[in-house]
This record gives sequence, C-alpha cells and structure tokens, in this order.
Amino acid sequence: MLMLTVVTLCLLVMAASSEDKALSSHAATMADNSASLAFNLYHTMAKEKDLENILISPVVVASTLGLVALAGKESTPSQVKAVLGADKVLDEHLHAGLAELLTDVSNSTARNVTWKLGSRLYGPSSISFADGFVQSSKKFYNVEHSKINFRDKKTAMKSINTWMSKSTGGKLPEVIKDMERTDGAMIINAMFFKPHWHEQFHHKMVDDRTFLVHHSLTISLPMMHRTGLYPFFEDKDNKLCVLSMPLAHNMSTLIIIMPYHMEPLERLEKLLTRKQLDDWLSKQEEKAMAVSLPKVSLEVGHDLQKYLGELGLTEAVDKAKADLSNISGKKDLYLSNVLHVSALEWDTPGNTFNTSIYSSERMKNPKLFYADHPFIFLVKDNRSKSILFIGRMVHPNGKKMKDEL
Ligand SMILES: *[C@@H]1O[C@H](CO)[C@@H](O)[C@H](O)[C@H]1NC(C)=O
Ligand SMILES: *[C@@H]1O[C@H](CO)[C@@H](O)[C@H](O)[C@H]1NC(C)=O
Ligand SMILES: *[C@@H]1O[C@H](CO)[C@@H](O)[C@H](O)[C@H]1NC(C)=O
Ligand SMILES: *[C@@H]1O[C@H](CO)[C@@H](O)[C@H](O)[C@H]1NC(C)=O
Ligand SMILES: *[C@@H]1O[C@H](CO)[C@@H](O)[C@H](O)[C@H]1NC(C)=O
Ligand SMILES: *[C@@H]1O[C@H](CO)[C@@H](O)[C@H](O)[C@H]1NC(C)=O
Repeated sequence: MLMLTVVTLCLLVMAASSEDKALSSHAATMADNSASLAFNLYHTMAKEKDLENILISPVVVASTLGLVALAGKESTPSQVKAVLGADKVLDEHLHAGLAELLTDVSNSTARNVTWKLGSRLYGPSSISFADGFVQSSKKFYNVEHSKINFRDKKTAMKSINTWMSKSTGGKLPEVIKDMERTDGAMIINAMFFKPHWHEQFHHKMVDDRTFLVHHSLTISLPMMHRTGLYPFFEDKDNKLCVLSMPLAHNMSTLIIIMPYHMEPLERLEKLLTRKQLDDWLSKQEEKAMAVSLPKVSLEVGHDLQKYLGELGLTEAVDKAKADLSNISGKKDLYLSNVLHVSALEWDTPGNTFNTSIYSSERMKNPKLFYADHPFIFLVKDNRSKSILFIGRMVHPNGKKMKDEL
C-alpha cells in the first residue's frame, strides 16, 4: 500500500514537471497586452515611407517599455502603461508579469527554437548607474548596463556592433551603420530567431527562384519547398491567403498572410487587425499544401524611439521633459534610441515526421502556396497567445535581376 502511494506520487511529480506550468495571471495579462501592442506598433511603422522589411518582437518591445517604466519618474511609468493598454495594472505586477512572460517565451530549450536575445542600456560616459536600478533592471529584464563615449562615434558604433554580434552568435554583423542621436540613454535589443519547423523541409529541396519585390525589381534567391498538411484559409473577397506552419512541438506557429499576386502591402495592412487575424485563423482548415518559401536570413534594425513616441511615450523621448532619474539619481538623461535589431533565419531544419502521409489520398493535388512576392508574417506563441514576432518580407536579400520596365 505504502509502495503504491510512493509510486503514484512519483508519477504525479513527473507528470507535473514535464507539463508546462501555466503562466501567472499577471504574465497572461501582459501576453495579451503585448499582442495588441504588436498590431499598434506594426501599423505605426508601416506608415513610414521607404521602410521595406519590418521585423519586431512585440514581447521584447513590451519588456523594453517595462525597462523605461523602471527608469522613469513623473508620468513616464503611466505613459508606459497606457502604451501597453495596462493602465490599471500595479507597477509590481507589470514588471513581474513582463519578466515572467519574457523568460517563458524566450526559453529556447523548452520552446525548441533558436532564440538568442541580448538587451543593453548604454549611457554616456559621464553617467553613474544607480545600484537599485541596475539590480531591478537586470532582475526583471535581463539588461546589461554599459557606458559609451560618443565623441568617438566610429569606435562607439564598432563596440555596439561587436556586442550585438556576440549576443546573437555572430548573426548580426554590422547592421547598425549610423545613429542620428547619440546624446541620451540608448536601449538596444539584439536578437537572432530561427524557427525550427514542426515538420522539417528536406535540405535538398532548395533551388534558385525569383522574388518580385515590386513591378520594376525582381531578385533571385534560394527557395525551399515541401508538401504537407497545413491549416489554410483563402479569403476570396480580399484576395489573400493565410497559411499557418507549426513550429516544433506545436508550441508556436508561423502565420503568413499573402496577397494572391504581387502588390504593395498597404491594402492588406489596412485589413490587418487582431480581430481580423483571429477571424482568418478560425476559418482555417487543414489542407494538403505545396509550400515554397524564401530560404534567407532577414536582418532588420529599427530605431523604435520615434514610433513609441507616436504611440504615447512622449515624455521619455523628449529631451526637455524627460525624467529618467531612476537610472542615475540625476535628471540628466532622455531616451534617445530604442534600437531593435533582429535576424530571422528562414531555413530547412525541423523535426522529423512520419513520411507515410505522402501515400495518403489527402495529399493528392496539394494547393500551391508560393511565396515569391511581399507578405506579412507573425510568429504566435501557442500557449500565451503572445506574438513573438510580427513583420513583413518585402525585399529579402538576393541578386538583382532586372531593374526597369
Ligand atoms: C523611481 O523613483 C521614484 C521616485 O523617487 C520611486 O518612487 C520609484 O520607486 C523608483 N522606481 C524604481 C523602479 O526604483
Ligand atoms: C528552460 O526550460 C527548461 C526545460 O523546460 C528548464 O529546465 C530551464 O530551467 C528553463 N530555463 C529558464 C532560464 O527558465
Ligand atoms: C528540437 O527538438 C528536437 C527533438 O525533439 C531536437 O532534436 C532538436 O535539436 C531541437 N531543436 C532546437 C532548436 O531546440
Ligand atoms: C500539430 O499541429 C498540426 C497542424 O495543426 C496537427 O496536425 C498536429 O496534430 C499537431 N500535433 C500535436 C502534437 O499537437
Ligand atoms: C496548442 O494550442 C492548442 C489550442 O489552444 C492546444 O490544444 C494544444 O495542446 C497546444 N499545443 C501545445 C504543444 O501546447
Ligand atoms: C506512420 O503512419 C502510419 C499510418 O498512419 C502508421 O501505420 C505507422 O506506424 C507510422 N509510423 C511511425 C514510425 O510512427
């Protein structure tokens, strides 16, 4: 009897530890808020002329906002909450929730993806960081602190790029070429994300194809191909397709929203809301699909300072009004840059799968999903429903083929 109890207990303990712990309610709230932030920020950025590719991690942006709230006095923490749609949330719940969310979704081992992430706060060489701030920002947001002398801009840029490259295992070599403002506090996020497919692409099913950037620019790039069962929805009224590709162990999903034909993405972006996306996803059905995707690394750097200001973080970014004196004890800093730099590698690796599916009737006549023109994509976390990445691939790296029409 006793033996049996012990065995049962052991089994229970094993079951509990192998199962994912549920997120706390504070973290779940932040996951939800950061998903709304994803769409707001994307739309703010998409208005910018001349901006081609977009790549942001809303959960990381949310944690950056949390860091700004830690740094700021006056109304900055309440502006942070307003941008996050978390006006009623207490400070300690905000920080604890954001910290838990970030730790949870960025755990590469548990998530079976490759996600390297470094965050650093740079201050001018004259600054001395307050101990309390250093400790709390490290504890909640895993931020490093560093001083930098921008009088020697070239050396400063080099040192930032070296740190970014180191934080991402060499995946972000010299993405930041120049900086406009160098006279305040800079927050820098450096990230490398590599989706690990639920079902891998065959590494040999890759060849050179063309990608239509716009009517007068076609480039050549490698494309990977595979056939499988994927959740898919074709919105005939809006002439677009929505494909979901599960990442390893179905813990997250890459969602692609692509117009039928090459066109500027404005039309789709006008449709893109959180509600609309949920609607599309709810209408998806599992279909046999022949999927072709660019096999490229998308490396994008954004300075989010201006966009966050547009979303309501007006005080911290204003040199005359900012009070970030929790950083050093002095009111001598404003938020001059929020550099958000990421590389997303679209590649073939993933988990192996049961190939007997290919002989089944369902796989006959798969539908084509041929991503050879600009599209919008998201990586959505299955458990917290937070959005790990949102972006658009408009102009991937490739060889230019023709330039005029
Ligand atoms: C920032 O400063 C304010 C005012 O002194 C203080 O109430 C708050 O606790 C500080 N925040 C942190 C995270 O230390
Ligand atoms: C990541 O997940 C693994 C496996 O679930 C766990 O053992 C590890 O403690 C986690 N790491 C962190 C930093 O939470
Ligand atoms: C994902 O899990 C598989 C085993 O299920 C393992 O072979 C692979 O290395 C893991 N990949 C990553 C990126 O964690
Ligand atoms: C993973 O997702 C795919 C496609 O949605 C589904 O067919 C499959 O059953 C899921 N597998 C698991 C283990 O949840
Ligand atoms: C993914 O989400 C679905 C629906 O919420 C759930 O049924 C499934 O168990 C989840 N899969 C994993 C691996 O968490
Ligand atoms: C693969 O799937 C087939 C049919 O669905 C099944 O009979 C077979 O046992 C599976 N093989 C493995 C290794 O799971």
